[in-house]
Amino acid sequence: MFRERMELKSREQVRAMRRAGLVVAAMLAEVRAAIRPGVTTAELDAIAAAHLDRAGALSNFRGYHGYPATVCISVNEEIVHGIPGERRIRAGDVVSVDGGCSVPGPNGRRWHGDSAFTVVVEPAQAADAVLAAITEEALWAAIAALAGGDRLGVVGDAVEAVVREHGERGVRLSIVREYVGHGIGSQMHQPPEVLNYSTRERGPRLRPGMVLAVEPMLAGGSPANRTLADGWTVVTSDGSHAAHWEHTVALLPGGVHVLTAADGGAAGLARHGLAPAPLD
Ligand code: MF3
Ligand code: CO
Repeated sequence: MFRERMELKSREQVRAMRRAGLVVAAMLAEVRAAIRPGVTTAELDAIAAAHLDRAGALSNFRGYHGYPATVCISVNEEIVHGIPGERRIRAGDVVSVDGGCSVPGPNGRRWHGDSAFTVVVEPAQAADAVLAAITEEALWAAIAALAGGDRLGVVGDAVEAVVREHGERGVRLSIVREYVGHGIGSQMHQPPEVLNYSTRERGPRLRPGMVLAVEPMLAGGSPANRTLADGWTVVTSDGSHAAHWEHTVALLPGGVHVLTAADGGAAGLARHGLAPAPLD
């Protein structure tokens, strides 16, 4: 998929990506606050679009391979790439919102951020609440692994370890394998691919200046999936619900800074006894 070399970012470039990341964080927070029964996914998309306009940022999803909206909104058995439309959110829905933007920065280029969250509209089914929480837990375990890791394979190992631990306690979730994280920088999608499962190859060596979008997707049943006739929406084949969490993470000399988290990742990293590396 990726043939170009990895783009190592300068401090100044990472700081431009932090500006993009903070806009993405605020946009997703505004969308999240508007998720309630009765709202349409198109209305949520409009909130995201208005936020980016006010911030002077551009959606990096809109127009990407012809994608027609500002964000992706995937509900229940939809895993990723759901297109906002007239669908109304209902009580109990599992709602994943994935969005990003670009802002102008060094080298006359635009610099990108990309992030996703999943919420369950109350009253939540217990299994759905657990699915969303464990997927978020897998994301932070992977981010923490990057902070102290040697090779990119630590991401997939961390996601698998979280899924396995919960599996041993009777919570059976599966990892969607067809969709992966990615490098990000002067484009939304760059090398390397960031797998959410372990492989025999340990992957490229982790180096300061790498910026990665880490984005585990878990399903409550089988991870088998297909794409709907709209050409975008990916659903589980068995109709089981899915969750998706994502952050854009900068690797720095002292650890990581989570560019799409308002607090730089402080709260999520603290669960692993870590703190964000300073950006300046
Ligand atoms: N945000 C997705 C990702 O995390 C990409 C969405 S592609 C789009 O990599 F076309 F839907 F925007
Ligand atoms: Co992404």
